[in-house]
Amino acid sequence: MFATVFLLLVTLCAQGGYGEEAQKPGHVTVVIVGGTGDLAKKYLWNGFFQLYVSQVSSGNTFSFYGGGLSPTDTAIPVLFEILKAVSCPKDLPEERCAVLKEQFLRLSQYRQLKTLEDYQDLAKYIEKQLQEEGMTEAGRLFYLSVPAFAYADIADKINSSCRPTSRAWLRVVLEKPFGHDLFSAEVLTAQLGNSLKDEEMYRIDHYLGKQVVAQILPFRAENKNFLDPIWNKHHIERVEIVLKETLDVKGRIPFYDQYGVIRDVLQNHLTEVMTLLTMRLPKNLSSHEEVMNNKLRVISSLLPLGKNQAVIGQYQAYNAEVQQELNKTKDHITFTPTFAAVLARIAETQYEGVPIFLISGKMLDERVGYARVLFKNDIVCLQNSNSIHCKPKQIIYYFGHGSLKYPAILVSKTLFKPVLMNGWKEVTEHTDVNVLGLAISDYYVQTPSKEREAYAELISHILAGHKNSFISTENLLASWGLWTPLLSSLSNAFPRIYPGGSDNGDMLDVLVKGNDITYNSEVVIISPDQMGGTSTSGFKVVRGKFRDDEMVSAWAEELVEELAKDLQDAAEAAVSKSGVFHVAFSGGSTPLALFHRLALHHFTFPWRDTHVWMVDERCVPLTELDSNFYTVYSQLLHHVKIPYFNIHPMPVHLNHRLCVEEDGGAQFYEKEVSRLINGSVFHYILLGVGYDSHTASLFPGTKEDELGDKLVAFTESPDKPHQRMSLTFSAINRAQRVALLVIG
Ligand SMILES: *[C@@H]1O[C@H](CO)[C@@H](O)[C@H](O)[C@H]1NC(C)=O
Ligand SMILES: *[C@@H]1O[C@H](CO)[C@@H](O)[C@H](O)[C@H]1NC(C)=O
Ligand SMILES: *[C@@H]1O[C@H](CO)[C@@H](O)[C@H](O)[C@H]1NC(C)=O
Ligand SMILES: *[C@@H]1O[C@H](CO)[C@@H](O)[C@H](O)[C@H]1NC(C)=O
Repeated sequence: MFATVFLLLVTLCAQGGYGEEAQKPGHVTVVIVGGTGDLAKKYLWNGFFQLYVSQVSSGNTFSFYGGGLSPTDTAIPVLFEILKAVSCPKDLPEERCAVLKEQFLRLSQYRQLKTLEDYQDLAKYIEKQLQEEGMTEAGRLFYLSVPAFAYADIADKINSSCRPTSRAWLRVVLEKPFGHDLFSAEVLTAQLGNSLKDEEMYRIDHYLGKQVVAQILPFRAENKNFLDPIWNKHHIERVEIVLKETLDVKGRIPFYDQYGVIRDVLQNHLTEVMTLLTMRLPKNLSSHEEVMNNKLRVISSLLPLGKNQAVIGQYQAYNAEVQQELNKTKDHITFTPTFAAVLARIAETQYEGVPIFLISGKMLDERVGYARVLFKNDIVCLQNSNSIHCKPKQIIYYFGHGSLKYPAILVSKTLFKPVLMNGWKEVTEHTDVNVLGLAISDYYVQTPSKEREAYAELISHILAGHKNSFISTENLLASWGLWTPLLSSLSNAFPRIYPGGSDNGDMLDVLVKGNDITYNSEVVIISPDQMGGTSTSGFKVVRGKFRDDEMVSAWAEELVEELAKDLQDAAEAAVSKSGVFHVAFSGGSTPLALFHRLALHHFTFPWRDTHVWMVDERCVPLTELDSNFYTVYSQLLHHVKIPYFNIHPMPVHLNHRLCVEEDGGAQFYEKEVSRLINGSVFHYILLGVGYDSHTASLFPGTKEDELGDKLVAFTESPDKPHQRMSLTFSAINRAQRVALLVIG
């Protein structure tokens, strides 16, 4: 169904294009829907004020509306505070700015925009104003600074009541996220397509408004003569596109936990930068069609991304933040990555074998964004390795922050002296700073003469109708087409936990092996006496004692790896001794990472001779998500070759009813255990610990003597579903080996 709708859309956009009349000066109405929200407050009103200032003598006139759901009386003071705080452009004299600000305030007002009537009233108001003042209308710009789920509804209201009646243009600006994966992006595209024409939609990726990013193509074009001979696999060693952040995501978790770093940053910002760096250089940089075609072409020539092309991580405090902000219990585990490094490759002869890294993360050591093209160096230095010829040859598009503090394009002096870009200046006086392995004085450096904020830049492009700085529908879907398979293959992958900040040390360094990428640092096992303080070397697998038993403590990923190994050793020993291995698994979310690991990495596990039992079960049908068995089945058993008669779910559902004493489910399970297991001695029982310190389904306060020497019993949990079936302490204590997995 969506495919059909999508085809229709493509036809529509092929008909796009404006008459020149649309760009004639006239009155422009700007409506910021969500006009008192965070983004509006931080960037948008400022951006529109800059626009207003730059347009004063253009012949255009303006009116600005901040729209929102709040009633007028509460929102007006809020909007007023925001408007009062807009900042003056640096080069504008203070007095002049005060006058313009005064005018801007007078032209701006709040409108409640909730119902269709509200939009109709707004339209009537605009028409009336145009008539009274005898103005020709140039266009209407709606900026939707609202959550994406509201887009379709608002677009529908705009289409049915706010389209300009004259030949004026309509432009509707949308902020990411544009969907969650390919399917949802297609749905959203189809929904919006019912209300807006493709050329009316401006999807913002604020990265495209950053001055250095916007300069990538022009820079490549201006320096074509230098770059053409070296812009290929023979000379490029690798490309890195990196956005490192030091902040965590506290306060944004309800959003972030559903997206994660790949959807938040890699699918959009970093993909756009990669495209600009590697696409075929358009003959005409201002031809929207040619730029879009070349972009699409490079995205579609990328090799598919699978889980071997990515490593993911999560900063240590993230899980607790999620539990807190989403009101989850202490045993809730989230797999959402806050760090990712992805290895992309382009299947074109020009770039064959050139690794392209896209890397981003929260809670890293510094805040910085750059794209780096590192060239091969064929010089072997025997002496004077400080000589410039021995140092990296690279071009760096430095987006900002980090050690340099200003946006810039840097070219190693050993490469070539680049053409100075229009509106840019060369920097020759430097403070002593090192940028990616090279002293700043070893580069030719150029920076914009005037720094412009990305949103202000993009807003001016919207008014000019320049679509190159926005994400086209085809571009969006192609990008989701690239990322969606990777996202699904990672959906249950366990991220490496990292401590955050400079403590990360080399934990997040990656290693390339052919087409695959892995973390460079392996698990290292050290004894407790080698353990030192809280440095990164302390974050390793530590063996110790708890009471008289062996204890292994480690980052979750390594811990799970250790446990999987222990389990496999026990299984192999049992099978070689008695031909069979009996293991009992617990439910809950704690063992998920173990199941995942076993399902993925343990092809040599003796599944054929393994019997899988349950430690405990909730009194729900086995096909429900809540059922412990369902988890073990869907996360593990479904993925390995185990004979079905070796699988032993607890019989909580007999005679079409759940856990009724008279149905004798517990006795039945106990009989099965005694019948199949020599002496009812399990080889291995895996337990978890709940946040109230219960284990199996034996809760604090359970009276051991009430259970007698039964092996299986019904118990009561303080949480829903209250009724449980569980192995008892008698069963657990006779097992050969009991592992207690504690995560969190
Ligand atoms: C907008 O609404 C009209 C009806 O008012 C409808 O005919 C049209 O298809 C809608 N969509 C677009 C893209 O104009
Ligand atoms: C480049 O494209 C723009 C926009 O389509 C067009 O106006 C201009 O004439 C083109 N220039 C050349 C040299 O073809
Ligand atoms: C979590 O609980 C607090 C207080 O009970 C509530 O204000 C908040 O909205 C809840 N958050 C979620 C995501 O349910
Ligand atoms: C059953 O266990 C007993 C001791 O626990 C052992 O001596 C015997 O060999 C086992 N039987 C089999 C068939 O493994």
